[in-house]
Amino acid sequence: MEVILEVKNLSKKFGGFEALKGVNLSVKKGTIHALIGPNGAGKTTLLNIINGLESPTEGEIFFEGKKINHLSVEKRAQLGLGRTFQLLEIFGDLTVLENIKVALFAKSSWGLLKSFFLGKSFNPFERELEKEAFSLLQIVGLSHKALELAKNLPAGEQKLLEICRALALKPKLLLLDEPAAGLNTRETKELGLILTQIKKNLDVTILIVEHDMELVMRISDVITVLNFGEVLSEGTPLQIQKDSKVIKAYLGEEL
Ligand SMILES: Nc1ncnc2c1ncn2[C@@H]1O[C@H](COP(=O)(O)OP(=O)(O)O)[C@@H](O)[C@H]1O
Ligand SMILES: [Mg+2]
Repeated sequence: MEVILEVKNLSKKFGGFEALKGVNLSVKKGTIHALIGPNGAGKTTLLNIINGLESPTEGEIFFEGKKINHLSVEKRAQLGLGRTFQLLEIFGDLTVLENIKVALFAKSSWGLLKSFFLGKSFNPFERELEKEAFSLLQIVGLSHKALELAKNLPAGEQKLLEICRALALKPKLLLLDEPAAGLNTRETKELGLILTQIKKNLDVTILIVEHDMELVMRISDVITVLNFGEVLSEGTPLQIQKDSKVIKAYLGEEL
């Protein structure tokens, strides 16, 4: 299987503190790859370095075989590296549909010019956007809420909207940082199904940091376990559940 993301010998120091120590990670195209580990293990730091929010102290990052260390967050997004953040970043006072249209609009600079010239009254481009926005909303199961204000959605649906917005930017690899945080059991199940759908139907590879072990074990193809900034173990959900090193690292936390 083709590798979409390769992280080589990555280290990150915050002052004298080593948050990541020689991490190697290889994410295969078409998989859901989970990154787990106790609090403070370095998971968010690793995601931030992959998408360009922070720079590594040492090491290399390759996306589709191309070294991306020197590229900005925006440039990486253009190449197909998408992400959502722990904090919601949707526009509460826009409708669900408008939130997706804004993202689709932002993706298309061609559209920007075009809609300028076509004006508001007759705008086939906008109709195109709307169609595309609807089909994305369908994928995350939110099309029936298209006309509601985003701020009026329950937490679980806001999370889905946030993921939908990331999808509007057409990522090849989607980075998710604890998408199930704050969701109830039913919403978490739903999220798992939707992530599996996204992988299958949109051909998006997913690298997910997640605390909810039931979700991780249910949807992941591969799991990498970080502990104190180092890769402790890697394998399928079954292999990870049986790994005594992993169980030991999680003592005191629920697995
Ligand atoms: N900007 C920063 N400055 C100093 N220390 C940081 C910074 N960001 C993260 N850390 C430290 O690095 C370690 C890893 O953090 P983080 O990547 O957020 O862990 P995780 O997401 O696995 O819980 C933690 O000990 C955290 O306190
Ligand atoms: Mg974190």
